[in-house]
Amino acid sequence: MKILVTAGPTREHVDDVRFISNLSSGRMGFVIAEAARRAGHEAVLVAGPTNLSPPAGVEFVPVTSAAEMAEAVKSRFEDVDAVVMAAAVADYRPKKKIAGKIQKGEKPLNLELERTEDILAHLGGMKKDQVLVGFALEASEADIERGLEKCRAKHCDLVVVNTVSAMGKAASTAVIADRDNVLTTLTDTDKTEIARTILNQVSRILESRR
Ligand code: CTP
Repeated sequence: MKILVTAGPTREHVDDVRFISNLSSGRMGFVIAEAARRAGHEAVLVAGPTNLSPPAGVEFVPVTSAAEMAEAVKSRFEDVDAVVMAAAVADYRPKKKIAGKIQKGEKPLNLELERTEDILAHLGGMKKDQVLVGFALEASEADIERGLEKCRAKHCDLVVVNTVSAMGKAASTAVIADRDNVLTTLTDTDKTEIARTILNQVSRILESRR
């Protein structure tokens, strides 16, 4: 199969030197792209800024903002069998980007933020036979149902819920849910193993459609 994976945070610039972002390390998405290549699949990795090196043999598409990520993903969507949205896409961006550098003053500074496009929701609305995998990051394991619900609303075929404690770590506890609400819980499991489990489930869904 040909699989597109997104990874990392996005950066939403306030001016030329400042931005809003989040703590995503990108590790989960990079590991999934690498595992896909090892399993003999064609992988495209669309990634926001991270400290990680692109895996060999994977088509690497670096982006910065949510808008750039949306463009990179949407323009390739028709050509792939599956999309795994592991990126922590910023939900908001500054309404206006100031050219140059904002100078400080005595008064408080208010930033007006607007919503970014929800890439996953957009793909959910335009997908044909592609398998869509959404990720949700919840504060604790008590919020897992909330995460599953959010991605189901975006027409995902698979949902992976992580908790905040997974960020930047090599291992994580993840709950994977399919459309029939069959749950696979991987407790404190290496991200490579989580990646393999996700890819096996994606392959299974694709095969069931052929
Ligand atoms: N996502 C996206 N485009 C956005 C925001 C999120 O494609 N602008 C994707 C993420 O890559 C992830 C899923 O949607 O696969 C996460 O959904 P979201 O509702 O943003 O989850 P949280 O960030 O956990 O939601 P909330 O802010 O409501 O806690």
